[in-house]
Parts: sequence; C-alpha cells; structure tokens
Amino acid sequence: MKNYDCIEVAVLGLGEMGQTHVEAALASPFVSRVYGYEPEPQRAAVRAAELGIAGTSELENILNNPNIKLMYIASVNEAHSEQTVKALQAGKAVLCEKPMGINLAEAQRMLSAEAQTGSFLQIGFELHYSKLYQQAKKWITQGLIGTPLNCHCRYYCSEFHLKNTWRSRSKGTLIGEKLSHYLDLQKWFFDDIPETVYSVSAPNAVSYFNHPDNHQIITRYHRGGIASLNFIMHLAETDHTDPLLEMLEKQSDDGHCLQYHIYGDKGAIETDVFHRRIRRWEFTDSPKQLVSRIVESISFPKENDQEWFHNVRGQNLRIAELVACGLPPDNSATNSYDSMRLCFASEVSFRENRIVSFDEI
Ligand SMILES: NC(=O)c1ccc[n+]([C@@H]2O[C@H](COP(=O)([O-])OP(=O)(O)OC[C@H]3O[C@@H](n4cnc5c(N)ncnc54)[C@H](O)[C@@H]3O)[C@@H](O)[C@H]2O)c1
Repeated sequence: MKNYDCIEVAVLGLGEMGQTHVEAALASPFVSRVYGYEPEPQRAAVRAAELGIAGTSELENILNNPNIKLMYIASVNEAHSEQTVKALQAGKAVLCEKPMGINLAEAQRMLSAEAQTGSFLQIGFELHYSKLYQQAKKWITQGLIGTPLNCHCRYYCSEFHLKNTWRSRSKGTLIGEKLSHYLDLQKWFFDDIPETVYSVSAPNAVSYFNHPDNHQIITRYHRGGIASLNFIMHLAETDHTDPLLEMLEKQSDDGHCLQYHIYGDKGAIETDVFHRRIRRWEFTDSPKQLVSRIVESISFPKENDQEWFHNVRGQNLRIAELVACGLPPDNSATNSYDSMRLCFASEVSFRENRIVSFDEI
C-alpha cells in the first residue's frame, strides 16, 4: 500500500550536473513535478525548455512555493552555502552538491541551519551509492581485510576545466571541488576520525588555473591507519570529444587512473575504475611466510558504468524516496562536514606547509 505523497522538487543550477539531477527527478516515482532555477532569466527559460521542466530566475518563487518539498542544489560552488541555508530556513529538504561550502565558515553555516531547522540535509557524496565503493565498504565491514591500515588513492585525469570558466578561475582549490569525494571515501573506509593531515602541491603545469593542479595529501587516522591521495589534473590525454569513442575503453590506457588500494592486516582491496574491476586479496600465515592470494575479482560491463562508479542518479532517486517517505538522510550532514573539515585541513596544510591537526579545524 502506498504510504507516501508524491513531492514537487526544484533543481538549482541547470548546467551539466543540474541536468543529471533533473533527469533523475523526472524518473522518480516519488516526484510529481520538477522546477528549475538559473539566476539569469534567458538562460533559465532556455534550459528549462530544453529539459522539459518549469523554469524560473526568481529563487523566491521556489522558496515560497509550499508544494516544493525538496531542493537539489547543483549551482556553482560559491552559491551552495547561501542557497542551502535559505532552502532549509524555508522548510525544504536539501540535497546539496559537494563541496559543502568553499570554506569552513560556509560549511558551518549549513550545518547550523540544519540543526536549527531540523530539516533534511544530505551532501552529494554520491560515491557512497556507487557499487564499486559499496562493495569495498562491504568487504571491510565483513572483516575480510581485518583492520584497514593503509589506503592509497591514485587519481590522474585529463585537463577538462577550460580556460576562463568558473572552475579554472576559482581560487578555491580542487581539494574541495574534486578531491572531497576521494578524501571522504578514505574516511568512510577507515570509519575513523582523522588525526593529522599533511598536504603538498608542486608548481602548476596548467598555467591558467588560479589554483594548484596537483596535490599529495597524507592523513593519519585516530586508530593509527594512514591514507594518501595523489592527484594530477592533466596527466591523461585531453578529451577530444569524439562521439563514437567509448570513453572508458580509451581512458583505461591513455593515462587516466582512479584506483584505491586498501591494505589491512588480513587482506587487501583494489578498486580500479578504468579497468572496471574490484579485487580482494586474503593473507594467511604459513610456517615460511605470510601468504597473499587474490580470492575475489568482480568486473562490471560498460552499460553499468554510472551505477558502479558515478551514481548520482541512484543517489538522487534515493533522496526523493527518503524525503517523500519522511525518512532521515542516509549519510548525515555532520559526517559530510567532517569530510569537509579534512579538505579544509589539507588546504591549511599546503598553504602553511605544515602538519595540521584535525582538532585545529
Ligand atoms: N557529484 C559529482 O560527482 C559532481 C560532478 C560534477 C559537478 N558537481 C558539482 O555540481 C555543481 C555544478 O557543476 P556543473 O558541472 O553542472 O557546472 P556547470 O558549469 O555545467 O553548471 C553550473 C550552472 O550553475 C549556474 N549558476 C551560476 N550561478 C548560479 C547561482 N547563483 N544559482 C544557481 N545556478 C547558478 C550556471 O549558469 C550553470 O548553468 C558544482 O558544485 C560541482 O562541484 C558534482
């Protein structure tokens, strides 16, 4: 028996990610109507028409509409905090894209608004819904690698942030904009609180970025685990946008890399996006040595790429269901706030060239 009422929702920011949010909302059985917002009237009208939804350039129209219960915020990073606070204060549930604010004060305002209003707030750390990482988390929770000790993430991509766009002009780092996903995942795998972080960046190869194009971030966790993340923005071949190209096939051998190695005292896990694979090692003692064996290997077909490693759609369908059914977030805003604290601690570390204690942030 149906025990929910369908809800109306709004998407703020109708760019690339906004489109993904709109498409998920239109596909949700829990959503009866979708509105879209862009600040500039002509763009609002054009994008709303392209996406087949009702558009507006007046945010108040959305905030004052009592039928709209949920707002998906996919606007530029600088607008996330203010729009989230306004939405929560207007009594709306919110799914806001990462980053959760561009600095600590903005993130704190979002968290305070959630506490004051008691409204639903979840941050778009969609990798928690992606099967590749859910499988890794499941093996860890089942104790199959023992205690996680050392987690390394390698992320090398092509330079797709074009000249003179908000992304290349941004003074905010790629730590919040991009790496927040990957630091958040490390924290999720360890299920622990970071203790210290040290972050360094070499001089840029991408000269027109207002921010570093590479980062190495080392985190020590409270229970002794350590994590590292090595990110290089432009190593892989530039995307030539050939529509016939099977992107992942090409990217698997053009310099792209997005891998985790999670090493425990009983085994290890490797996730590998560009080889569409997750593997598990088991360690057993023997009279001669510690023996390591690969005991599981799971691959996924390209048709399931989104679901396996970039499941914004799955996340958004789930959020509509949670809000329509009056259920709490899957991933608390406080948890995401802690992931953002780790990002901001990393930024302080590289700016001040020192080890930063998580408690300082
Ligand atoms: N979760 C993920 O994996 C993921 C991936 C890509 C982008 N994102 C996030 O989604 C957001 C949007 O990224 P994108 O790739 O769609 O960028 P985009 O440039 O394609 O779109 C941004 C849109 O926001 C609009 N905009 C500008 N100012 C605005 C405001 N004040 N209010 C509302 N809209 C405004 C722009 O006109 C544009 O249409 C960013 O915060 C980004 O970090 C998340």
